[in-house]
Amino acid sequence: MEKLLLLHIFLFCWRSLNALFTVEAPKSLYTAELGSNVTMECVFPVNGKLKFGDLSVIWEKKDEVRKDVYILVKGKEDSESQHSDFQGRTKLLKENLDLGQSLLQISNVKLRDAGLYHCLIEYGGADYKTINLKVQDTQ
Ligand SMILES: *[C@@H]1O[C@H](CO)[C@@H](O)[C@H](O)[C@H]1NC(C)=O
Repeated sequence: MEKLLLLHIFLFCWRSLNALFTVEAPKSLYTAELGSNVTMECVFPVNGKLKFGDLSVIWEKKDEVRKDVYILVKGKEDSESQHSDFQGRTKLLKENLDLGQSLLQISNVKLRDAGLYHCLIEYGGADYKTINLKVQDTQ
């Protein structure tokens, strides 16, 4: 009976911890100049050392169709499913993942990059935030 109670307490705590997994976007609006580089940021909780193999990071763009911008599944990059709009122009700054920062760099920003992005993170729990990118044509 006591064991059952402990199990219930354990499950309850575990579920609450999972529910506490939240992704935050320190900035929800970025403005980049045409042709420049932009780095967008989402943060997620990491307790202790990051278990890279448990981490999935997805950056996607919400256009008429959903476009995969950057995909990391259980620690492995999946560049095949990346949308051609972003090929060769994105980089996840991996050294920052240890600190719970998912930093996506898009280089040589194009006008069509403007729009809404989702940063999804799965690490125990899962959550996402939306970030708006504006592109300025200064020429
Ligand atoms: C933009 O990013 C590219 C690729 O990471 C890099 O080669 C280039 O130096 C960067 N440019 C600036 C202005 O930071």
